[in-house]
Amino acid sequence: MPHSHAEGTTPDRSAPAAGLRRVLVTGGGTGIGLAVCEAILAGGGQVVAVGRRSEPLQAIAARYPGQAHALVADLAAPEQREGLLARGRALMGGLDGFVHSAGYVAHEAPGSISEAALRAQIEINLVAPLRLGEQALELLEDGGGMVFVASTLAVRPVLTSAVYSAAKAGLIEAMKVLALAGAPRGVRASAVLPGVVDTDMIRAPAPTRDGQNESPSEVERRVERLRALHPIGRLGATSDVAACTTYLLGAHWISGASITIDGGLLLRE
Ligand SMILES: NC(=O)c1ccc[n+]([C@@H]2O[C@H](COP(=O)([O-])OP(=O)(O)OC[C@H]3O[C@@H](n4cnc5c(N)ncnc54)[C@H](OP(=O)(O)O)[C@@H]3O)[C@@H](O)[C@H]2O)c1
Repeated sequence: MPHSHAEGTTPDRSAPAAGLRRVLVTGGGTGIGLAVCEAILAGGGQVVAVGRRSEPLQAIAARYPGQAHALVADLAAPEQREGLLARGRALMGGLDGFVHSAGYVAHEAPGSISEAALRAQIEINLVAPLRLGEQALELLEDGGGMVFVASTLAVRPVLTSAVYSAAKAGLIEAMKVLALAGAPRGVRASAVLPGVVDTDMIRAPAPTRDGQNESPSEVERRVERLRALHPIGRLGATSDVAACTTYLLGAHWISGASITIDGGLLLRE
């Protein structure tokens, strides 16, 4: 006799998997976070996209009326983090997933590390995701999932990444503790570690030695050097990272995992 899903019913294949129904995504207006939102929305889920700039958030909310919601907040400010996931849950009528994609990198070599950039990177890459993860532990439905966007720089730093690497490495360890804490309710936490992904973050003109900003051709040359570091021969697409993230949100026996998604970058010596 063929296996039937449930007596007298057929499975609803249009319903999003648990963990993917109602998801709050920080950094959801741009780059990797936006691709995560789009993947969830395409699967029939709802999202609350969070960031500082209203415009990109309103753009996704306008494209998916009633399905995508915008929440403007500076997550580096403790008072703006307060109650954030509760607000997201109220907008969607529940909370099954949490993705922290908001992040900031300032490349500075030892000796030139500015205090402001140090504090800003620790706050958005480590403190905010841990604090929001604590909120998620309380508010996620049983079996829900959280995914934190870390970086290959967490495990393979470069000369200019001391603070960013330390913050993302700390985030991975904090994620494991959240995974332990959530396990009794089936609430899972994992991290993705992207290599270089083609987003605003890498295309923003970097400061040059003469105190100027890179010209467009200098940006192109730098991006080309970054591309060449990846054995698979291309930069990551935001959809590459989104596919892995949504997989983890819905994977009910994966918790505490760190998945590199890097075109083979870490294979290199
Ligand atoms: N691109 C890469 O090569 C790469 C590689 C490894 C890891 N990552 C990580 O991937 C994540 C997403 O980055 P991305 O590449 O997609 O670049 P992105 O488009 O610049 O995304 C960063 C997002 O974070 C939000 N954000 C930054 N600071 C915030 C704050 N204080 N409060 C609220 N939101 C804030 C930004 O929105 P607002 O500016 O509007 O606030 C933006 O939407 C980051 O965590 C980054 O560290 C990126």
